[in-house]
Amino acid sequence: MDRIRITGGRPLNGTIPISGAKNAALPLLISSLLTEDRLTLKNVPNLADVNLLVRILRNHGVDLAVDGKRPGPAMHLGETFHLTAREIVDLTAPYELVSRMRASFWVLGPLLARMGQAKVSLPGGCAIGTRPVDLHLTGLKALGAEIDIDAGYVIAKAPKGGLRGARVVFPKVSVGATHNVLLAAALAKGETVIENAAREPEIGDVAMCLSKMGAKVEGIGTSTLRVQGRDRLEGTVHTVLPDRIEAGTFAMAVAATGGDVTLEGARIADVQSAFDVLAQTGAQVTATDSGIRVVRNGNGIAPVSIETEPFPGFPTDLQAQLMALLSLADGTSVIRETIFENRFMHVQELARLGADIQLHGDTATIRGVKTLKGAPVMATDLRASVSLVIAGLAGEGDTVINRVYHLDRGFEQLEQKLSRCGADIERLTSG
Ligand code: UD1
Repeated sequence: MDRIRITGGRPLNGTIPISGAKNAALPLLISSLLTEDRLTLKNVPNLADVNLLVRILRNHGVDLAVDGKRPGPAMHLGETFHLTAREIVDLTAPYELVSRMRASFWVLGPLLARMGQAKVSLPGGCAIGTRPVDLHLTGLKALGAEIDIDAGYVIAKAPKGGLRGARVVFPKVSVGATHNVLLAAALAKGETVIENAAREPEIGDVAMCLSKMGAKVEGIGTSTLRVQGRDRLEGTVHTVLPDRIEAGTFAMAVAATGGDVTLEGARIADVQSAFDVLAQTGAQVTATDSGIRVVRNGNGIAPVSIETEPFPGFPTDLQAQLMALLSLADGTSVIRETIFENRFMHVQELARLGADIQLHGDTATIRGVKTLKGAPVMATDLRASVSLVIAGLAGEGDTVINRVYHLDRGFEQLEQKLSRCGADIERLTSG
């Protein structure tokens, strides 16, 4: 298994191109199931999760052609995927594939809407909590689906004549359930109103793509989405929006190591809450013509207290990275995780590097230390593992991160992007 070695203590300076957003690319790829026409997606990041989803989609009958060559070793310009689901040949998404990535469960809505039935394994994904799918199923039932659970599979059937538009009121904000119902509603009869919808920019990106495919979606960016379903959707061309979590992660890294980095292509409005928090820690953050510039020179890191929240609040996907930064703050910070109940697995590993963090239920109290010291550590999930990268970059000496396949799920060319900015980081490939 590959490992990553980092020798810490170097500031980051330069430009980092931000890739297409994983969390938008996945549902956009799934949208290809809704039409027999060709869907062209530009700026698709080259990630393990994308490759896994492609395997799942191929199993359903999606044909994929990719333009151009794989990216070179130092930069990524995004790949262009042409997806065509002329015929759906298999209505089952099997356990072996779905259990490896939770977002693959989102094929349920589109398969059901297009084919009138689907059988999808209950998901797996990161071990960051129980992560049920009750909201997805309640939403699809409101559109008329009949749902049974049998031997670990969700078996869903649409009524005669197909899914029909309805009012769906989510009791809790869920990104995945919003995607699943939105995708299904695009091919349902009549209007669907989704209330208490997630407002994440990735939902907006999918909604815009669906609109281009012919399903009118109103209320993009708000918590009420109105979807006019169509009998048939058309192909289109759509560009995946930049990855705000990747941008936020590199920004935290710069704040931790010091330096001056421009995050090329990043959009500040997509991750305003995190950049506001960064500014409170003492980093300078400015929107520029090409992206976002983050600078921290000389001054210390001020402690802050935050809670994770659905968009537009502070994203849970940046909680671990912020904690790595605050481990080096001049004082005590508090982080409350309100989205997932078990998303503190990075705490033990950060402690191995010398961080002083106390956990009480959903709250972490972080007492800043003067220095972190390199050590071997274990990546436990996607965002936790990148917090160890940040701590390693800002610490003294060598950190070796094991199980980096977690990183490969969601960060494209991570070592290359960081080493171009002066980091001493390399991948140790097991032979
Ligand atoms: C998505 C993101 C993930 C991010 C998360 C929260 C993708 C591919 N993944 O995950 O990176 O961390 O949003 O921003 O976009 N819940 C229920 N019942 C359900 C569904 C969810 O109780 O049916 C709960 C979950 O357990 C969790 C909360 O709702 O506590 C939010 O989960 P959700 O927004 O659905 O996260 P995902 O879509 O899985």
